[in-house]
Amino acid sequence: MADSMTAEPRPADVTTRPTGEPLIVLDHVEKHFGELHVLRDVNLTIHRGEVVVVIGPSGSGKSTLCRTINRLETIDSGTISIDGKPLPAEGRELARLRADVGMVFQSFNLFAHRTVLENVTLGQVKAKGVKPAVAKATAMDLLERVGVADQAAKRPAQLSGGQQQRVAIARALAMKPKAMLFDEPTSALDPEMINEVLDVMVGLAQDGMTMVVVTHEMGFARRAAHRVVFMDAGQVVEEAEPETFFTAPRSGRAKDFLSKILTH
Ligand SMILES: Nc1ncnc2c1ncn2[C@@H]1O[C@H](COP(=O)(O)OP(=O)(O)O)[C@@H](O)[C@H]1O
Ligand SMILES: [Mg+2]
Repeated sequence: MADSMTAEPRPADVTTRPTGEPLIVLDHVEKHFGELHVLRDVNLTIHRGEVVVVIGPSGSGKSTLCRTINRLETIDSGTISIDGKPLPAEGRELARLRADVGMVFQSFNLFAHRTVLENVTLGQVKAKGVKPAVAKATAMDLLERVGVADQAAKRPAQLSGGQQQRVAIARALAMKPKAMLFDEPTSALDPEMINEVLDVMVGLAQDGMTMVVVTHEMGFARRAAHRVVFMDAGQVVEEAEPETFFTAPRSGRAKDFLSKILTH
């Protein structure tokens, strides 16, 4: 973790780049799991081209937040809209809107019995009707971009964790999403593989991708994020620019959390 915690200079092209109109808007979102109130009046707007890091203690609702944005979980009340369109509860329109948001999980979730190339090709052909030859060309371009083109013919299990996660990023990008959600994308990786994944994500940020990234990697937040959102107990407690949040958190809860993650 030492490497990724060092304060690296922030490239001006990410954090000082102006961001656009609202792309993902959560308005008074509430969510329970039975008795458990997991999202409490969450109001959050992610602008086009913006990179937002979500940070907070385990169990604070970060994954649930990502999953509701993608409608992998329903919400009890409030609204979530993507590019001006409210997310419907189900049906065809939902599938279409869901494809606007790419998701990368902690646990890669690649199709184990398919090759790397097939992993990045199948969704394009099946969900978007892209011709196989075109899908393959797109896939190879993306695998090149994330640095694993030479692994295209292998099965995921033959790759390192860092390589698998980069394939997962390529697979999500192949659907040409308007935004990308990353839920602790480096938490399952051996330390020496964390940076190769973070570097791909920084590259995406520099290219202007709208990103919501759940991570405790402060190096990434400092290099690439416009804004840090701190969650605790289902609430957005505090939002600030990375430098401000890490050096001068306002709330007691954020101070307490930062003191814990900074001391190990
Ligand atoms: N499918 C589920 N059913 C019941 N409780 C859940 C479910 N998913 C998450 N939770 C609970 O909701 C709370 C928030 O979880 P989560 O969003 O995963 O937090 P985080 O990602 O911040 O660690 C936790 O208390 C967790 O145990
Ligand atoms: Mg989580």
